[in-house]
Amino acid sequence: MSVPPSLRIYAPLNAVLAAPGLLAMAALTIPDISARSRLALAALLAVIWGAYLLQLAATLLKRRAGDLRDRTPKIAIDVLAVLVPLAAFLLVGTPDRGLYCAVWLLKPLRDSTFFPVLGRVLANEARNLIGVTTLFGVVLFAVALAAYVIERDIQPEKFGSIPQAMWWAVVTLSTTGYGDTIPQSFAGRVLAGAVMMSGIGIFGLWAGILATGFYQEVRREDFVRNWQLVATVPLFQKLGPAVLVEIVRALRARTVPAGAVICRSGEPGDRMFFVVEGRVSVATPNPVELGPGAFFGEMALITGERRSATVSAATEVSLLSLHAADFQMLCSSSPEIAEIIRKTALERRGAAQRNSPSTDLEP
Ligand code: CMP
Repeated sequence: MSVPPSLRIYAPLNAVLAAPGLLAMAALTIPDISARSRLALAALLAVIWGAYLLQLAATLLKRRAGDLRDRTPKIAIDVLAVLVPLAAFLLVGTPDRGLYCAVWLLKPLRDSTFFPVLGRVLANEARNLIGVTTLFGVVLFAVALAAYVIERDIQPEKFGSIPQAMWWAVVTLSTTGYGDTIPQSFAGRVLAGAVMMSGIGIFGLWAGILATGFYQEVRREDFVRNWQLVATVPLFQKLGPAVLVEIVRALRARTVPAGAVICRSGEPGDRMFFVVEGRVSVATPNPVELGPGAFFGEMALITGERRSATVSAATEVSLLSLHAADFQMLCSSSPEIAEIIRKTALERRGAAQRNSPSTDLEP
């Protein structure tokens, strides 16, 4: 589950270098910038190109042959980022040379996890998307035909053929409305209104299908990841398969960097946490460290009181969090787990406030 160290460095570096590179490229297209600024911008492009060259060299040197095959698309982007501007520098005339640095647009995408997800969403939703696209095509053609029939005699230069009317239909159906072509007749305007309304519906359908597809894909990924993570928390091994599935769905995975505060003393608490990897430090009078398999944040959920201590990440820590409502579900489905959590909370409270009267800790 850990990110390779090289990726951690390269992913932000790619974005950080590409942004000024592309801005410099854009600035070079302004006709009236001074020769000095032009030189400075060109120097900036050269520096970024040099950095990408070093990155490519480092990647090629480090990767063993097997890894190289897996990373072919990424290395292809690295190679293009170096070769395209170099070829432009050698072969293209001065004013347009910088434009070829546009290939750096690919750099931030190189490490993006979004595109594989998008690919899966499109594959999963292909049938629905094709259905809506077909509907769009049918409506577009029918509307262009109607507009042609209604407007061809009034505006032959704009609606004189179906392909001409189709331009108006696309602009209207997509609710873009350039205003370059406007129906003149009453019937044409009624048609335009109906087209705009159906355009909103069709684009809404597209957006809905994609949003649902993304949601399902993300939930699926979360489920698979959480399923692997719960195996490292012994407490969950006491659950039967049905409850386990519910809990896996309810858990949220999160990685917290070393030193970051996870919950602060005195805050209201609406979730508890399970440590999957790494360690957390509980700032009690005698500070305690909790490691993989341990849980914390349960006291606020059981008593309804505010957080009793500040908990921070002693190392980078991978956590699973469980919301209060799902915690109640866990406790009612598994009295055994409820009892373990309640006992642990009692012990912790006893350790922290030896002389104070015990509070009722029934979940
Ligand atoms: P809560 O009070 O919700 O938030 C802070 C958490 O720190 C608390 O729940 C416990 O899970 C944890 N905690 C408090 N005291 C101790 C302790 N003595 N040992 C281990 N964990 C503790």
